[in-house]
Amino acid sequence: MKTKTFTSTAAAAFCVLAFAAGNADAQGTVGVTKVHSSRPRASLRTVTPQSGAPQFGDALPGLTSEQLAYFGAGMDEFENVETVAGGLGPVFNNVSCVACHNAGGTGGGSAILVTRFGQAANGVFDPLTALGGSLLQDNAINAAALETVPAQANVIAHRQSTPLFGAGLIEAIADADIQRNVLKVPLDGIKGRAAMVTDVATGQQRVGRFGWKAQQATLLSFAGDAYLNEMGITSRLFPLENAPNGDAAKLAAWDTVLDPEDEVDPATGRGDIDAAADFMRFLAPPPPLPLTASASAGKTIFQQINCAACHTPMMTTAPNSISALNRKPVALYSDLLLHDMGALGDGITQGPAGPTEMRTPPLWGLRASAPYLHDGRAPTIEAAIMAHDGEAKTSRDRYSRLSKTQRQQLLDFLKSI
Ligand code: HEC
Ligand code: HEC
Repeated sequence: MKTKTFTSTAAAAFCVLAFAAGNADAQGTVGVTKVHSSRPRASLRTVTPQSGAPQFGDALPGLTSEQLAYFGAGMDEFENVETVAGGLGPVFNNVSCVACHNAGGTGGGSAILVTRFGQAANGVFDPLTALGGSLLQDNAINAAALETVPAQANVIAHRQSTPLFGAGLIEAIADADIQRNVLKVPLDGIKGRAAMVTDVATGQQRVGRFGWKAQQATLLSFAGDAYLNEMGITSRLFPLENAPNGDAAKLAAWDTVLDPEDEVDPATGRGDIDAAADFMRFLAPPPPLPLTASASAGKTIFQQINCAACHTPMMTTAPNSISALNRKPVALYSDLLLHDMGALGDGITQGPAGPTEMRTPPLWGLRASAPYLHDGRAPTIEAAIMAHDGEAKTSRDRYSRLSKTQRQQLLDFLKSI
């Protein structure tokens, strides 16, 4: 069904790489002459609305044909393989969004991990920004630019690629509705707090909701962040290239493309980050399965042992000019708040989130997103539950006291949502 319009291939990337290498001087100290990026621009294309209930990777139901065309163009962009001529690198983690986001369909998660590092001393976390932290880029367009985890780092954490199904519905929830999820009177030691972040696209203070640390509030900002930090593509929102381990000379030697590499189309003012955001915004939520008798019993248990205190079953989107996102129910099973997860925290301070704080991940679509937890340490849903700590300890202990049948009922429920 999908037609690809790009000609970018690994072979093309290699030719450009050889060209870039030829331009750098032997010591790699003199900057190369920079050229404009050459990036294919995704064009709007007709996408036929699916009949019946949307499946993983389908568009939201109820989009207009124009919105579906933006969804299609965004999917092309999301699947586009970046090349050196298009601005890939100098350091990067992978060559396309879909390379890490594909389980169940384009836009899913994957078991691919990225690495964060930093230095914790006397209760203070230093992201080692001057040495390229806190995110490691474990790939480079030339081996000479490759990053390593600096010796100073004493915190090293892995983060798993998350699924994006239903992300537009999550984006469309009002800040105030997330803030209302904070429990005024702690229940079982559970309180939670909203992650206030400055949205790079608007400069506004917003409630962060995307990422394991709730580090971004909007899909456009996350797209800009991912283009830069996962692929080394600069944009109007993130115009500064990452220097390999903070080394400006290495950056000068290997950065051959003028910034921003994602050049906006003068006709529309939009770039590839906008297209990728459109795709994620219009992606349908994971399709729930009909509840069996066992799963229905599990739904009650989920409430009784207070999983629902953090994994809020349902929220509603705010009024929205896009009717498919307007006042819609969102069965995400998350309060989108940060919680102190004790020993399960990843040790990284990021934005407002402290070392032990993690965002409650949505549980919808769980059956398609194994392995689980921020670092993928849990091969099964049960292992993920048993690793809960901190604010979730009481709820976890209640789970471990359930009978074998009750546990199975709860797991059947979690595999249906
Ligand atoms: C190298 C693998 C990799 C690539 C490439 C990648 N991502 Fe991700 N993505 C991740 C990981 C890992 C996370 C979780 C990051 C975190 O929270 O620290 C993530 C999280 C996200 C989220 C947050 C979703 C949520 O659950 O809240 C969005 C949105 C996203 N990515 C979009 C993109 C887009 C758009 C691209 C392409 C421009 C992209 N990603 C490329 C690995 C990747
Ligand atoms: C205090 C809030 C809180 C409570 C209570 C809680 N969770 Fe969680 N849950 C989280 C957070 C935060 C994470 C992510 C932790 C991480 O990966 O570091 C998580 C992760 C998960 C995951 C893995 C999700 C994924 O995509 O990897 C599952 C499954 C899960 N919880 C189920 C449950 C169940 C079942 C219960 C009840 C027994 C429960 N949780 C109680 C906050 C909570």
